Amino acid sequence: SFEVKLASSGKCVSVAPTKSVVAALREAGVNIEVSCEQGVCGTCLTRVLEGEPDHRDNYLTDEEKAANNQFLPCCSRARGKLLVLDL
Ligand code: FES
Repeated sequence: SFEVKLASSGKCVSVAPTKSVVAALREAGVNIEVSCEQGVCGTCLTRVLEGEPDHRDNYLTDEEKAANNQFLPCCSRARGKLLVLDL
């Protein structure tokens, strides 16, 4: 598992291996708008301020993925222990 931290509030949310970042945030009362929930539409696109996303979507280009400054939290995860999100 890993944690996501909300930059605005400093709130940390743990993301279990069986859960998406969107689902974990929703349980913590933070709603991210979604549509496809399969990494295709880009609706849930969220800026990443710190940490390295584990990109599992089919929406971002390889260059955008390599920049590590945004990810699709409906399906993508973290490579490390923490992602700081611009939320
Ligand atoms: Fe479609 Fe995340 S909801 S890419």
